[in-house]
Amino acid sequence: MEKKFYLTTPIYYPSANFHIGHCYTTIIADAIARYKRLCGYDVFYLTGSDEHGQKIQKKAEEAGVTPQKYVDDIVSNAKDLWERLNISYDKFIRTTDSEHVICVQKIFEKLYKQGDIYKDEYKGLYCTPCESFWTESQLVDGKCPDCGRDVSEVSEEAYFFKLSKYQDKLVKFYEDNPNFIKPDSRKNEMINNFIKPGLEDLCVSRTSFDWGVPVTFDDNHVVYVWLDALTNYISALGYLSADDSLFKKYWPCDLHIVGKEIVRFHTIIWPIILMALDLPLPKQVFGHGWLVIDGGKISKSLGNYKDPREYIDTYGVDAVRYFVLREVPFGNDGNFSEEALITRTNGDLANILGNLVNRTIGMANKYFDGVIENRNVKEEVDDKLISEALELRNKVDNYMANNEVSKALEAIIDLFRSSNKYIDETMPWVLAKDASKKDRLATVLYNLIETIRIGSVLLQAFLPDTSAKIFHQINTDLTSFDSITEFGGYVSATKVNEAEVLFKRIEN
Ligand code: MSP
Repeated sequence: MEKKFYLTTPIYYPSANFHIGHCYTTIIADAIARYKRLCGYDVFYLTGSDEHGQKIQKKAEEAGVTPQKYVDDIVSNAKDLWERLNISYDKFIRTTDSEHVICVQKIFEKLYKQGDIYKDEYKGLYCTPCESFWTESQLVDGKCPDCGRDVSEVSEEAYFFKLSKYQDKLVKFYEDNPNFIKPDSRKNEMINNFIKPGLEDLCVSRTSFDWGVPVTFDDNHVVYVWLDALTNYISALGYLSADDSLFKKYWPCDLHIVGKEIVRFHTIIWPIILMALDLPLPKQVFGHGWLVIDGGKISKSLGNYKDPREYIDTYGVDAVRYFVLREVPFGNDGNFSEEALITRTNGDLANILGNLVNRTIGMANKYFDGVIENRNVKEEVDDKLISEALELRNKVDNYMANNEVSKALEAIIDLFRSSNKYIDETMPWVLAKDASKKDRLATVLYNLIETIRIGSVLLQAFLPDTSAKIFHQINTDLTSFDSITEFGGYVSATKVNEAEVLFKRIEN
Protein backbone atom coordinates (compact mmCIF):
# COMPACT_ATOMS: atom_id res chain seq x y z
CA MET A 1 0.00 0.00 0.00
CA GLU A 2 1.20 3.50 -0.84
CA LYS A 3 2.32 5.44 2.22
CA LYS A 4 0.52 8.78 2.43
CA PHE A 5 0.96 11.60 4.91
CA TYR A 6 -1.41 14.53 5.21
CA LEU A 7 -0.01 17.38 7.26
CA THR A 8 -1.42 20.83 7.96
CA THR A 9 -0.58 24.09 9.65
CA PRO A 10 -3.38 26.34 10.89
CA ILE A 11 -4.58 28.81 8.31
CA TYR A 12 -3.17 32.22 9.22
CA TYR A 13 -5.06 35.45 9.78
CA PRO A 14 -3.96 37.69 6.92
CA SER A 15 -1.42 40.16 8.19
CA ALA A 16 1.27 42.42 6.89
CA ASN A 17 3.11 41.98 10.17
CA PHE A 18 4.11 38.36 10.53
CA HIS A 19 6.85 37.96 13.10
CA ILE A 20 9.39 35.20 13.68
CA GLY A 21 6.93 33.40 16.02
CA HIS A 22 4.42 33.00 13.18
CA CYS A 23 7.13 31.33 11.12
CA TYR A 24 7.59 28.62 13.70
CA THR A 25 4.46 26.62 12.78
CA THR A 26 5.21 26.59 9.06
CA ILE A 27 8.91 25.83 9.51
CA ILE A 28 8.35 22.92 11.90
CA ALA A 29 5.64 21.54 9.60
CA ASP A 30 7.95 22.00 6.63
CA ALA A 31 10.71 20.01 8.33
CA ILE A 32 8.25 17.21 9.07
CA ALA A 33 6.87 17.28 5.50
CA ARG A 34 10.34 17.13 3.99
CA TYR A 35 11.36 14.38 6.38
CA LYS A 36 8.34 12.27 5.50
CA ARG A 37 9.04 12.76 1.78
CA LEU A 38 12.60 11.55 2.41
CA CYS A 39 11.15 8.47 4.09
CA GLY A 40 9.19 7.76 0.91
CA TYR A 41 5.76 9.06 1.93
CA ASP A 42 3.43 10.68 -0.54
CA VAL A 43 3.02 13.92 1.43
CA PHE A 44 0.33 16.54 1.14
CA TYR A 45 1.28 19.64 3.12
CA LEU A 46 -1.45 22.24 3.47
CA THR A 47 -1.25 25.81 4.69
CA GLY A 48 -3.33 28.88 3.94
CA SER A 49 -5.18 31.91 5.22
CA ASP A 50 -8.20 32.49 7.41
CA GLU A 51 -9.80 35.55 5.89
CA HIS A 52 -13.27 36.07 7.30
CA GLY A 53 -14.53 37.77 10.43
CA GLN A 54 -15.36 41.04 12.05
CA LYS A 55 -11.75 42.02 12.63
CA ILE A 56 -10.91 41.88 8.91
CA GLN A 57 -14.11 43.74 8.04
CA LYS A 58 -13.15 46.53 10.44
CA LYS A 59 -9.61 46.78 9.14
CA ALA A 60 -10.88 46.95 5.56
CA GLU A 61 -13.31 49.73 6.53
CA GLU A 62 -10.47 51.65 8.18
CA ALA A 63 -8.39 51.23 5.02
CA GLY A 64 -11.31 52.35 2.87
CA VAL A 65 -11.36 49.19 0.72
CA THR A 66 -13.62 46.17 0.40
CA PRO A 67 -12.72 43.23 2.66
CA GLN A 68 -11.94 41.15 -0.43
CA LYS A 69 -9.51 43.76 -1.74
CA TYR A 70 -8.00 44.08 1.73
CA VAL A 71 -7.30 40.34 2.04
CA ASP A 72 -6.16 39.97 -1.57
CA ASP A 73 -3.51 42.60 -0.95
CA ILE A 74 -2.03 41.08 2.17
CA VAL A 75 -2.35 37.36 1.54
CA SER A 76 0.56 37.69 -0.85
CA ASN A 77 2.64 38.74 2.16
CA ALA A 78 2.29 35.25 3.63
CA LYS A 79 3.04 33.58 0.32
CA ASP A 80 6.13 35.72 -0.13
CA LEU A 81 7.38 34.95 3.37
CA TRP A 82 6.81 31.20 2.99
CA GLU A 83 8.71 31.27 -0.28
CA ARG A 84 11.61 33.10 1.34
CA LEU A 85 11.64 30.47 4.10
CA ASN A 86 11.62 27.57 1.61
CA ILE A 87 8.28 26.25 2.84
CA SER A 88 7.40 23.30 0.60
CA TYR A 89 3.61 23.36 0.94
CA ASP A 90 1.53 21.51 -1.63
CA LYS A 91 -1.50 23.75 -1.41
CA PHE A 92 -2.33 27.20 -0.06
CA ILE A 93 -6.02 27.40 0.76
CA ARG A 94 -7.87 30.67 1.26
CA THR A 95 -11.20 30.66 3.07
CA THR A 96 -12.42 33.08 0.40
CA ASP A 97 -11.86 30.42 -2.31
CA SER A 98 -15.25 29.60 -3.80
CA GLU A 99 -14.71 25.83 -3.34
CA HIS A 100 -14.17 26.40 0.36
CA VAL A 101 -17.19 28.69 0.71
CA ILE A 102 -19.46 26.14 -1.00
CA CYS A 103 -18.10 23.31 1.15
CA VAL A 104 -18.77 25.26 4.37
CA GLN A 105 -22.31 26.04 3.19
CA LYS A 106 -23.01 22.39 2.41
CA ILE A 107 -21.70 21.30 5.81
CA PHE A 108 -23.77 23.95 7.60
CA GLU A 109 -26.91 22.81 5.76
CA LYS A 110 -26.21 19.15 6.48
CA LEU A 111 -25.64 19.72 10.18
CA TYR A 112 -28.78 21.88 10.37
CA LYS A 113 -30.90 19.27 8.60
CA GLN A 114 -29.74 16.49 10.90
CA GLY A 115 -30.49 18.62 13.97
CA ASP A 116 -26.93 19.24 15.13
CA ILE A 117 -27.25 22.97 14.39
CA TYR A 118 -30.22 24.88 15.82
CA LYS A 119 -31.32 28.52 16.09
CA ASP A 120 -31.41 30.33 19.43
CA GLU A 121 -30.63 33.64 21.11
CA TYR A 122 -27.00 34.35 21.90
CA LYS A 123 -26.18 36.33 25.00
CA GLY A 124 -22.58 36.49 25.90
CA LEU A 125 -19.26 38.16 26.22
CA TYR A 126 -17.27 38.65 23.08
CA CYS A 127 -13.65 39.57 22.51
CA THR A 128 -13.46 41.24 19.10
CA PRO A 129 -9.67 41.00 18.54
CA CYS A 130 -9.67 37.25 19.37
CA GLU A 131 -13.07 36.62 17.78
CA SER A 132 -13.93 34.47 20.81
CA PHE A 133 -16.96 34.18 23.00
CA TRP A 134 -16.41 33.67 26.69
CA THR A 135 -18.50 32.81 29.70
CA GLU A 136 -18.25 34.93 32.84
CA SER A 137 -16.30 32.20 34.63
CA GLN A 138 -13.71 31.97 31.86
CA LEU A 139 -12.74 35.66 32.11
CA VAL A 140 -9.55 36.60 33.94
CA ASP A 141 -10.06 39.74 36.04
CA GLY A 142 -13.06 40.51 33.88
CA LYS A 143 -10.96 40.50 30.70
CA CYS A 144 -10.42 38.14 27.76
CA PRO A 145 -8.36 35.18 29.05
CA ASP A 146 -6.38 35.01 25.78
CA CYS A 147 -5.36 38.62 25.18
CA GLY A 148 -6.30 40.44 28.38
CA ARG A 149 -8.43 43.03 26.60
CA ASP A 150 -11.98 44.16 27.37
CA VAL A 151 -14.89 42.01 26.30
CA SER A 152 -18.31 43.35 25.39
CA GLU A 153 -21.76 41.96 26.05
CA VAL A 154 -23.66 40.98 22.96
CA SER A 155 -27.09 39.59 22.37
CA GLU A 156 -28.28 38.40 18.99
CA GLU A 157 -30.06 35.64 17.17
CA ALA A 158 -27.61 32.90 16.28
CA TYR A 159 -27.22 29.30 15.23
CA PHE A 160 -25.62 26.87 17.64
CA PHE A 161 -23.78 23.61 17.14
CA LYS A 162 -24.53 20.82 19.62
CA LEU A 163 -21.07 20.17 21.03
CA SER A 164 -22.60 18.86 24.25
CA LYS A 165 -24.26 15.96 22.43
CA TYR A 166 -20.86 14.57 21.45
CA GLN A 167 -18.99 15.09 24.72
CA ASP A 168 -19.00 11.45 25.89
CA LYS A 169 -18.05 10.21 22.46
CA LEU A 170 -15.12 12.63 22.42
CA VAL A 171 -13.82 11.51 25.80
CA LYS A 172 -14.07 7.89 24.66
CA PHE A 173 -12.14 8.81 21.51
CA TYR A 174 -9.35 10.39 23.60
CA GLU A 175 -9.18 7.23 25.72
CA ASP A 176 -9.04 4.92 22.71
CA ASN A 177 -6.47 7.08 20.89
CA PRO A 178 -3.73 8.08 23.32
CA ASN A 179 -1.71 9.67 20.50
CA PHE A 180 -4.48 12.01 19.38
CA ILE A 181 -3.30 15.00 21.43
CA LYS A 182 0.41 15.52 21.86
CA PRO A 183 2.27 16.39 24.02
CA ASP A 184 0.31 14.63 26.78
CA SER A 185 0.28 17.74 28.97
CA ARG A 186 -2.03 19.43 26.45
CA LYS A 187 -4.50 16.57 26.70
CA ASN A 188 -4.77 16.98 30.46
CA GLU A 189 -5.33 20.70 29.94
CA MET A 190 -8.22 20.00 27.54
CA ILE A 191 -9.89 17.48 29.83
CA ASN A 192 -9.53 19.48 33.04
CA ASN A 193 -10.17 23.00 31.72
CA PHE A 194 -12.77 22.46 29.04
CA ILE A 195 -14.36 19.02 29.05
CA LYS A 196 -14.82 18.33 32.76
CA PRO A 197 -16.70 21.61 33.39
CA GLY A 198 -19.06 20.44 30.58
CA LEU A 199 -19.05 21.47 26.94
CA GLU A 200 -21.35 24.31 26.00
CA ASP A 201 -22.94 24.41 22.57
CA LEU A 202 -20.97 26.55 20.15
CA CYS A 203 -22.25 29.68 18.45
CA VAL A 204 -21.67 29.13 14.74
CA SER A 205 -23.28 32.14 13.09
CA ARG A 206 -23.37 35.91 13.45
CA THR A 207 -25.65 38.67 12.27
CA SER A 208 -23.69 41.73 13.42
CA PHE A 209 -21.28 41.68 10.48
CA ASP A 210 -21.42 40.24 7.01
CA TRP A 211 -17.83 39.42 6.03
CA GLY A 212 -18.19 35.65 6.21
CA VAL A 213 -19.68 32.64 4.48
CA PRO A 214 -23.42 33.35 4.04
CA VAL A 215 -25.81 30.81 5.58
CA THR A 216 -27.73 29.64 2.50
CA PHE A 217 -31.14 29.35 4.12
CA ASP A 218 -31.05 32.41 6.38
CA ASP A 219 -29.94 35.68 4.75
CA ASN A 220 -29.01 37.59 7.88
CA HIS A 221 -26.43 35.10 9.05
CA VAL A 222 -22.83 34.43 8.18
CA VAL A 223 -21.01 31.36 9.46
CA TYR A 224 -19.04 32.21 12.56
CA VAL A 225 -15.39 31.84 12.13
CA TRP A 226 -14.23 28.51 13.69
CA LEU A 227 -16.66 26.32 11.76
CA ASP A 228 -15.55 28.17 8.63
CA ALA A 229 -11.83 28.01 9.48
CA LEU A 230 -11.55 24.40 10.60
CA THR A 231 -13.39 23.15 7.54
CA ASN A 232 -10.41 24.25 5.41
CA TYR A 233 -8.68 20.97 6.23
CA ILE A 234 -11.26 19.02 4.23
CA SER A 235 -12.48 21.62 1.73
CA ALA A 236 -8.85 21.89 0.52
CA LEU A 237 -9.07 18.23 -0.48
CA GLY A 238 -12.34 18.67 -2.36
CA TYR A 239 -14.68 17.21 0.27
CA LEU A 240 -18.30 17.37 -1.00
CA SER A 241 -17.12 18.70 -4.37
CA ALA A 242 -17.36 17.13 -7.82
CA ASP A 243 -13.73 16.04 -7.56
CA ASP A 244 -12.99 14.58 -4.13
CA SER A 245 -10.09 12.39 -5.23
CA LEU A 246 -7.63 14.19 -2.94
CA PHE A 247 -10.02 13.76 -0.04
CA LYS A 248 -10.32 10.04 -0.73
CA LYS A 249 -6.57 9.75 -0.98
CA TYR A 250 -5.38 11.82 1.96
CA TRP A 251 -8.13 11.97 4.59
CA PRO A 252 -7.91 11.34 7.56
CA CYS A 253 -5.24 13.88 8.37
CA ASP A 254 -2.09 12.38 9.83
CA LEU A 255 -0.90 15.46 11.66
CA HIS A 256 -2.34 18.88 12.45
CA ILE A 257 0.50 21.08 13.75
CA VAL A 258 -0.91 23.98 15.76
CA GLY A 259 0.27 26.51 18.32
CA LYS A 260 -0.68 25.71 21.90
CA GLU A 261 -3.32 28.46 22.14
CA ILE A 262 -5.51 26.87 19.46
CA VAL A 263 -5.22 23.25 20.57
CA ARG A 264 -8.69 23.41 22.09
CA PHE A 265 -10.33 24.30 18.79
CA HIS A 266 -8.53 21.44 17.06
CA THR A 267 -9.09 18.79 19.71
CA ILE A 268 -12.63 19.59 20.81
CA ILE A 269 -14.58 21.48 18.15
CA TRP A 270 -12.87 19.93 15.12
CA PRO A 271 -13.28 16.26 16.08
CA ILE A 272 -16.90 16.92 17.00
CA ILE A 273 -17.60 18.53 13.62
CA LEU A 274 -16.06 15.45 11.99
CA MET A 275 -18.08 13.09 14.20
CA ALA A 276 -21.25 14.90 13.20
CA LEU A 277 -20.25 14.51 9.55
CA ASP A 278 -19.51 10.84 10.19
CA LEU A 279 -15.94 11.22 8.98
CA PRO A 280 -12.80 9.57 10.37
CA LEU A 281 -10.89 11.73 12.84
CA PRO A 282 -7.32 13.05 12.46
CA LYS A 283 -4.61 10.80 13.79
CA GLN A 284 -2.83 13.51 15.76
CA VAL A 285 -2.95 17.14 16.81
CA PHE A 286 0.44 18.40 17.97
CA GLY A 287 0.36 21.59 20.04
CA HIS A 288 3.74 23.28 19.85
CA GLY A 289 5.08 25.90 22.22
CA TRP A 290 5.73 29.52 21.35
CA LEU A 291 8.74 31.52 20.45
CA VAL A 292 8.83 34.26 23.03
CA ILE A 293 11.05 37.25 23.70
CA ASP A 294 12.19 37.69 27.29
CA GLY A 295 9.49 35.22 28.28
CA GLY A 296 6.72 37.33 26.69
CA LYS A 297 4.83 37.75 23.44
CA ILE A 298 6.37 39.09 20.26
CA SER A 299 4.41 42.09 19.12
CA LYS A 300 4.67 45.27 17.19
CA SER A 301 3.27 47.33 20.05
CA LEU A 302 5.93 45.99 22.45
CA GLY A 303 8.60 47.10 20.02
CA ASN A 304 10.29 43.70 19.84
CA TYR A 305 8.97 42.93 16.36
CA LYS A 306 11.09 42.66 13.24
CA ASP A 307 10.02 41.43 9.84
CA PRO A 308 11.47 37.88 9.59
CA ARG A 309 12.78 38.81 6.12
CA GLU A 310 15.30 41.09 7.82
CA TYR A 311 16.80 38.09 9.62
CA ILE A 312 16.80 36.07 6.40
CA ASP A 313 18.59 38.88 4.56
CA THR A 314 21.18 39.31 7.30
CA TYR A 315 21.87 35.72 8.38
CA GLY A 316 20.51 33.51 5.57
CA VAL A 317 17.39 31.40 5.41
CA ASP A 318 18.96 28.28 6.91
CA ALA A 319 20.33 30.16 9.91
CA VAL A 320 16.76 31.28 10.65
CA ARG A 321 15.28 27.82 10.02
CA TYR A 322 17.98 26.23 12.17
CA PHE A 323 17.41 28.61 15.01
CA VAL A 324 13.67 28.14 15.33
CA LEU A 325 13.82 24.37 14.84
CA ARG A 326 16.68 23.88 17.28
CA GLU A 327 15.76 26.41 19.94
CA VAL A 328 12.21 25.39 20.82
CA PRO A 329 12.35 22.20 22.90
CA PHE A 330 9.66 19.56 22.38
CA GLY A 331 6.31 21.16 23.05
CA ASN A 332 7.75 23.94 25.25
CA ASP A 333 8.38 27.62 24.64
CA GLY A 334 11.71 28.80 23.27
CA ASN A 335 13.27 32.21 23.67
CA PHE A 336 14.13 34.26 20.61
CA SER A 337 16.80 36.91 20.50
CA GLU A 338 19.08 38.05 17.74
CA GLU A 339 22.01 37.39 20.02
CA ALA A 340 20.94 33.77 20.49
CA LEU A 341 20.45 33.45 16.73
CA ILE A 342 24.01 34.67 16.19
CA THR A 343 25.39 32.32 18.85
CA ARG A 344 23.66 29.30 17.26
CA THR A 345 24.76 30.28 13.78
CA ASN A 346 28.37 30.82 14.80
CA GLY A 347 28.53 27.78 17.06
CA ASP A 348 26.64 24.97 15.36
CA LEU A 349 26.54 26.13 11.76
CA ALA A 350 29.78 28.05 11.16
CA ASN A 351 32.17 26.40 13.63
CA ILE A 352 30.92 22.83 13.54
CA LEU A 353 29.25 22.19 10.17
CA GLY A 354 30.78 24.91 7.99
CA ASN A 355 34.25 24.34 9.32
CA LEU A 356 34.01 20.57 8.87
CA VAL A 357 32.97 20.77 5.24
CA ASN A 358 35.44 23.52 4.48
CA ARG A 359 38.40 21.75 6.04
CA THR A 360 37.54 18.41 4.46
CA ILE A 361 37.06 19.75 0.94
CA GLY A 362 40.13 21.96 1.36
CA MET A 363 42.30 18.98 2.31
CA ALA A 364 40.86 16.80 -0.48
CA ASN A 365 41.84 19.44 -3.00
CA LYS A 366 45.20 20.14 -1.43
CA TYR A 367 46.41 16.57 -0.98
CA PHE A 368 44.68 14.71 -3.83
CA ASP A 369 43.60 17.34 -6.37
CA GLY A 370 40.07 16.68 -5.17
CA VAL A 371 39.96 13.00 -6.14
CA ILE A 372 39.32 10.87 -3.07
CA GLU A 373 39.66 7.13 -3.33
CA ASN A 374 38.62 4.81 -0.56
CA ARG A 375 41.87 2.88 -0.11
CA ASN A 376 40.54 1.01 2.93
CA VAL A 377 43.48 1.47 5.27
CA LYS A 378 41.49 1.25 8.46
CA GLU A 379 42.37 2.09 12.02
CA GLU A 380 40.42 1.63 15.23
CA VAL A 381 39.52 5.31 15.47
CA ASP A 382 37.38 4.92 12.32
CA ASP A 383 34.96 2.46 13.92
CA LYS A 384 33.45 4.95 16.31
CA LEU A 385 32.78 7.52 13.59
CA ILE A 386 31.39 4.94 11.19
CA SER A 387 29.03 3.42 13.73
CA GLU A 388 27.86 6.89 14.81
CA ALA A 389 27.14 7.75 11.17
CA LEU A 390 25.22 4.52 10.68
CA GLU A 391 23.17 4.98 13.85
CA LEU A 392 22.11 8.51 12.94
CA ARG A 393 19.18 7.56 10.73
CA ASN A 394 17.58 5.47 13.47
CA LYS A 395 18.13 8.16 16.06
CA VAL A 396 16.61 10.88 13.88
CA ASP A 397 13.76 8.57 12.96
CA ASN A 398 12.89 7.92 16.59
CA TYR A 399 12.89 11.61 17.43
CA MET A 400 10.85 12.53 14.37
CA ALA A 401 8.25 9.87 15.22
CA ASN A 402 7.48 12.07 18.25
CA ASN A 403 7.91 15.39 16.43
CA GLU A 404 11.05 16.03 18.49
CA VAL A 405 12.56 18.15 15.76
CA SER A 406 15.03 19.94 18.00
CA LYS A 407 16.55 16.67 19.24
CA ALA A 408 16.74 15.28 15.70
CA LEU A 409 18.76 18.31 14.62
CA GLU A 410 20.95 18.08 17.67
CA ALA A 411 21.78 14.47 16.78
CA ILE A 412 22.78 15.49 13.25
CA ILE A 413 25.03 18.28 14.51
CA ASP A 414 26.55 15.82 17.01
CA LEU A 415 27.71 13.64 14.11
CA PHE A 416 29.38 16.67 12.51
CA ARG A 417 30.96 17.49 15.86
CA SER A 418 32.36 13.95 16.08
CA SER A 419 33.71 14.33 12.55
CA ASN A 420 35.67 17.41 13.58
CA LYS A 421 37.03 15.43 16.50
CA TYR A 422 38.01 12.67 14.07
CA ILE A 423 40.05 15.22 12.11
CA ASP A 424 41.82 16.28 15.29
CA GLU A 425 42.52 12.64 16.18
CA THR A 426 43.69 11.45 12.77
CA MET A 427 45.67 14.63 11.98
CA PRO A 428 45.60 14.45 8.17
CA TRP A 429 48.23 17.23 7.92
CA VAL A 430 50.70 14.96 9.73
CA LEU A 431 49.82 11.98 7.50
CA ALA A 432 50.36 14.22 4.46
CA LYS A 433 54.00 14.70 5.38
CA ASP A 434 54.73 10.99 5.20
CA ALA A 435 54.58 9.42 1.70
CA SER A 436 54.00 5.94 3.18
CA LYS A 437 50.78 7.21 4.81
CA LYS A 438 49.17 8.36 1.56
CA ASP A 439 46.63 5.50 1.51
CA ARG A 440 45.71 6.08 5.13
CA LEU A 441 45.25 9.78 4.39
CA ALA A 442 42.92 8.96 1.49
CA THR A 443 40.90 6.64 3.73
CA VAL A 444 40.54 9.31 6.41
CA LEU A 445 39.29 11.85 3.87
CA TYR A 446 36.94 9.31 2.33
CA ASN A 447 35.49 8.53 5.77
CA LEU A 448 34.98 12.22 6.39
CA ILE A 449 33.25 12.86 3.08
CA GLU A 450 31.01 9.83 3.50
CA THR A 451 30.07 10.94 7.01
CA ILE A 452 29.33 14.46 5.76
CA ARG A 453 27.15 12.93 3.03
CA ILE A 454 25.20 10.77 5.49
CA GLY A 455 24.60 13.69 7.86
CA SER A 456 23.57 15.93 4.96
CA VAL A 457 21.04 13.42 3.62
CA LEU A 458 19.21 13.73 6.95
CA LEU A 459 19.86 17.46 7.18
CA GLN A 460 17.92 17.98 3.92
CA ALA A 461 14.64 17.93 5.81
CA PHE A 462 15.69 20.83 8.01
CA LEU A 463 18.17 22.93 6.00
CA PRO A 464 17.48 22.09 2.35
CA ASP A 465 19.65 24.87 0.87
CA THR A 466 22.68 23.99 2.97
CA SER A 467 22.40 20.28 2.16
CA ALA A 468 22.19 21.09 -1.55
CA LYS A 469 25.35 23.21 -1.27
CA ILE A 470 27.16 20.39 0.53
CA PHE A 471 26.09 17.81 -2.06
CA HIS A 472 27.46 20.13 -4.72
CA GLN A 473 30.77 20.58 -2.92
CA ILE A 474 31.28 16.86 -2.39
CA ASN A 475 29.89 16.30 -5.89
CA THR A 476 27.32 13.61 -5.21
CA ASP A 477 23.75 12.87 -6.19
CA LEU A 478 23.41 10.07 -3.66
CA THR A 479 20.99 11.94 -1.46
CA SER A 480 18.21 9.43 -0.78
CA PHE A 481 17.34 7.74 2.46
CA ASP A 482 18.18 4.36 0.97
CA SER A 483 21.70 5.54 0.20
CA ILE A 484 22.65 5.81 3.88
CA THR A 485 21.86 2.34 5.17
CA GLU A 486 25.47 1.31 4.69
CA PHE A 487 28.73 3.18 5.10
CA GLY A 488 30.57 3.47 1.79
CA GLY A 489 27.93 4.72 -0.62
CA TYR A 490 29.98 7.70 -1.71
CA VAL A 491 31.59 6.74 -5.00
CA SER A 492 35.32 6.25 -4.58
CA ALA A 493 37.50 8.45 -6.82
CA THR A 494 34.84 11.15 -7.27
CA LYS A 495 36.40 14.59 -7.80
CA VAL A 496 35.06 17.07 -5.26
CA ASN A 497 34.37 20.70 -6.18
CA GLU A 498 35.99 23.79 -4.71
CA ALA A 499 35.35 24.55 -1.05
CA GLU A 500 32.88 27.36 -0.47
CA VAL A 501 32.00 28.93 2.86
CA LEU A 502 28.58 27.67 4.05
CA PHE A 503 28.12 30.03 6.99
CA LYS A 504 30.19 33.12 7.62
CA ARG A 505 31.00 33.76 11.25
CA ILE A 506 28.95 36.75 12.38
CA GLU A 507 30.71 39.40 14.42
CA ASN A 508 28.34 40.47 17.15
N1 MSP B 1 -6.54 31.65 12.07
C1 MSP B 1 -6.23 30.94 13.26
C2 MSP B 1 -6.08 29.44 13.01
C3 MSP B 1 -7.25 28.78 12.34
S1 MSP B 1 -6.90 27.10 11.99
C4 MSP B 1 -8.34 26.41 11.53
C5 MSP B 1 -4.92 31.47 13.88
N2 MSP B 1 -4.13 32.21 13.08
S2 MSP B 1 -2.79 32.97 13.58
O1 MSP B 1 -2.33 33.71 12.43
O2 MSP B 1 -3.07 33.74 14.75
O3 MSP B 1 -1.74 31.89 13.99
C6 MSP B 1 -1.15 31.02 13.07
C7 MSP B 1 -0.10 30.15 13.75
O4 MSP B 1 0.99 30.96 14.21
C8 MSP B 1 -0.63 29.42 15.00
O5 MSP B 1 -0.18 28.08 14.99
C9 MSP B 1 0.02 30.16 16.13
O6 MSP B 1 0.22 29.38 17.27
C10 MSP B 1 1.35 30.53 15.50
N3 MSP B 1 2.04 31.57 16.26
C11 MSP B 1 1.74 32.90 16.36
N4 MSP B 1 2.62 33.49 17.22
C12 MSP B 1 3.50 32.54 17.68
C13 MSP B 1 4.68 32.58 18.44
N5 MSP B 1 5.11 33.67 19.02
N6 MSP B 1 5.40 31.42 18.54
C14 MSP B 1 5.03 30.26 17.90
N7 MSP B 1 3.93 30.21 17.19
C15 MSP B 1 3.06 31.27 17.18
O7 MSP B 1 -4.66 31.18 15.03
